[in-house]
Amino acid sequence: MTKHIGILTSGGDSPGLNAAIRGVGKAALGAYDMEVIGIRDGFRGLVENRTMQLDRGELSGILTRGGTILGTSREKPHRMHFNGKRQDMTDVIVENYQAHHLDALVCIGGGGTQKNALQLVEKGLNVITLPKTIDNDVAHTDTTFGFDTALGIATDAIDRLHSTAHSHHRIIVVEIMGHRAGWLALGSGVAGGADVILLPEIPYDIESVAEAIRGRAAGGKPFSIVAVAEGALPRGVAEEVQDLRERKQKATDKKLRKQLKSELSEMESRYSNHTVTLSRELEELTGLESRVTILGYLQRGGTPSAADRLLATRLGTACVDLIAEERFGVMVASRGDQAVPVPLVDVAGYKKLVPPDHPWVISAKRVGTTFGDE
Ligand code: F6P
Repeated sequence: MTKHIGILTSGGDSPGLNAAIRGVGKAALGAYDMEVIGIRDGFRGLVENRTMQLDRGELSGILTRGGTILGTSREKPHRMHFNGKRQDMTDVIVENYQAHHLDALVCIGGGGTQKNALQLVEKGLNVITLPKTIDNDVAHTDTTFGFDTALGIATDAIDRLHSTAHSHHRIIVVEIMGHRAGWLALGSGVAGGADVILLPEIPYDIESVAEAIRGRAAGGKPFSIVAVAEGALPRGVAEEVQDLRERKQKATDKKLRKQLKSELSEMESRYSNHTVTLSRELEELTGLESRVTILGYLQRGGTPSAADRLLATRLGTACVDLIAEERFGVMVASRGDQAVPVPLVDVAGYKKLVPPDHPWVISAKRVGTTFGDE
């Protein structure tokens, strides 16, 4: 019996998504003679029944393309915007899955997608996922596709900022994506030789950052590159945010949980333009001119790197072997050269954060980079 599979991409886009769609699709059509449909715009497309046939023609020529040919959204099945309010649409998803006679649904996404996928597994659907995100924060996989490309883009940006910072004797604060996990700021900061790296996982002391920059100026280097992750926070604030997160996590009372959630988002939005404030503070504390560069969506756009194409193809094709073996409720993780199925219950709701004693952090400190934690 011919198997029917559906593929969707969900969450923020990421280089390598098309390579993964192609990997799944070509292996399914070629090696197993399956029927493949693409679902548009993430879980929303499954609710609204917006699909496209993925035949050899559609899958051809997309390996090197950025973005996703299917479109994406951050919609959650159980809290979808519908008719002006948020509604639980999981039952509609189940109906449409059955209407398309799907034997499996492949969900390609980051942390949020893993959680959404698990909910659909709990509704009885055969779901299998692939880990993508430029943040590299999905648990139980060595890495996620998108990260390597973004790492290259951010590193290249830091290289370019170095020469202008040097010429103008300025501080340049470069904001790099990553609200909760600082892998991208850390990796590009180390690779680009940033003088200061600030991460969500390592709360910083502004005076210690300023001291390091003043020290460089006194030593004849009146310029510095500060690579700051979006979610990096100063000491004090970081502890408050952490406390709120933990209380929200533990809260069983619905009203209290809602109140803690709004306190948390108020706190997070207060610090969302923090990079500009940080730059101003450093200017005052060091007497040097400071400028801000926000890399933003440039980090997610465009052609995937060779490593991301390879990873996405490897995981995408392995995913189809697992579908053929009827292994569902798993994420296809990368472990060394292997593609390994990991139960979604072990992945959903867990983030892979930077351990403060990670080898990249230790190496950066050895070459004189400051994290503002001393
Ligand atoms: O894809 C993850 C991520 O890149 C985060 O690092 C970033 O903060 C977020 O997406 C922003 O994306 P959007 O504006 O699309 O929600």
